Amino acid sequence: MKQRINVVLREEPQEQRVIVAGWVRTRRDTGTFSFLEVNDGSCLANLQVIADSSLANYEEEIKRLNTGCSVIVTGVAKKSPAKGQNVEVHADTIEVVGWADPENYPLQKKRHSFEFLREISHLRPRTNALGAVARVRSRLAWAINSFFQERGFFQVHTPIITTSDCEGAGEMFQVTTAREAGAAKGTHEEFFGRKAGLTVSGQLQAEVYALALGNVYTFGPTFRAENSNTSRHLAEFWMIEPEMAFCDLACNMELATDMLKYVLSDVVENCSEDMALFDSFIEKGLLAKLRSVIEKDFAHLTYTEAVDKLIASKKKFEFPVKWGIDLQSEHERYLCEELFGCPLIVTDYPATIKPFYMRVNDDGKTVAAMDILVPGIGEIVGGSQREERYEVLERRMLEAGIELEEYRWYLDLRKYGSVPHAGYGLGFERLVQFVTGMANIREVIPFPRTPGFAPC
Ligand code: 4AD
Ligand code: MG
Repeated sequence: MKQRINVVLREEPQEQRVIVAGWVRTRRDTGTFSFLEVNDGSCLANLQVIADSSLANYEEEIKRLNTGCSVIVTGVAKKSPAKGQNVEVHADTIEVVGWADPENYPLQKKRHSFEFLREISHLRPRTNALGAVARVRSRLAWAINSFFQERGFFQVHTPIITTSDCEGAGEMFQVTTAREAGAAKGTHEEFFGRKAGLTVSGQLQAEVYALALGNVYTFGPTFRAENSNTSRHLAEFWMIEPEMAFCDLACNMELATDMLKYVLSDVVENCSEDMALFDSFIEKGLLAKLRSVIEKDFAHLTYTEAVDKLIASKKKFEFPVKWGIDLQSEHERYLCEELFGCPLIVTDYPATIKPFYMRVNDDGKTVAAMDILVPGIGEIVGGSQREERYEVLERRMLEAGIELEEYRWYLDLRKYGSVPHAGYGLGFERLVQFVTGMANIREVIPFPRTPGFAPC
């Protein structure tokens, strides 16, 4: 049975036999043997393999191995005399499974820029940084699922193809069907006669299940047809959306705070090797930052207070501040980086800048919304208490120019056993960015979809 390198490296070597398979990072020859550094993606560390010149294929094959070749090694794991590693494997056989022509294999021992790596998304997970991101991303997804499952939430699989534009921002990709097999360009029609698109959020359907099962969450891909070329926007991103019946804004904020602290603690504890890499090479002080987020309370202020603070700062913002504007990234960053230096929950935004489904506050001007802003990123979570009053919701929908017939099912939820309920959306890639310190969101999703994305 093959072993994973992270397991071989973790165990105390007792001259046990191992079989490992992976990709060669480097080869170094001495007079009578070669050192191979082999990585199998299970961890950041490479396994040092010692290939003696007595191996049958030493001259013809082993001495031709270079970065990127794939091999299966059988041998004995021994305590290593070398500094910085506990284990090395003395090979009995090394089977070369696939060659990688050194003349044109794009990944070499030197450091490559992230921009360059984006052009080769089929090879970039073999680099230290992108491999670490993939492992941490996987662990974060696992931690999120365990957080909700431990608390009795049910996962609901909401649709990708939908007729409802949850955010009402007109950013839906349209879904069309080819009129006939092999139809030429331009002969597409609406999805089986209906206007349909790719979901911008699973929230509305999650509400349906919250009002039946109590506490639910979705975790799936969402799509936004916005032509924004920034370091924190994607056209396809993953979102976690819990939705809770019998819950108000305060309970929503509490859940979001607990969830963020839970997943950060999990990853700091369980991905220590990868996190140390980010801390040293991607964002200095990253681990200290995350630990302080885990330990300290989040700051909280209302939108109105936030606007007052921005005005009082007398800072020259590119986008002038006055009550009623949507907070821009420069404002969010000032608040949580300069003013508070910690995550910040902003609540009670003006109704005019938020979607129809948010619950209108008693002042009639603001809604029970909450955004969580974090240093370096800005908005990571957006949520609200939902409007559960039939008449108020209907009025808000009409004001927003929504076709009521299309949302009859959504209004029905307010007609039959309506309850206060709330939820939020956590942008998964923004979370991965925050955790890894990666400056650009394109580095934290395997195949980023942005205007002009690379093939694959
Ligand atoms: O604030 P948003 O648009 O909220 C919703 O979609 C709600 N329906 C969620 C809910 O209440 N169930 O998006 C939520 C989060 C944002 O805070 C941000 O982290 C992320 O999704 N997000 C994006 N991430 C990457 N690229 C984009 N284009 C994003 N748009 C939003
Ligand atoms: Mg938002």
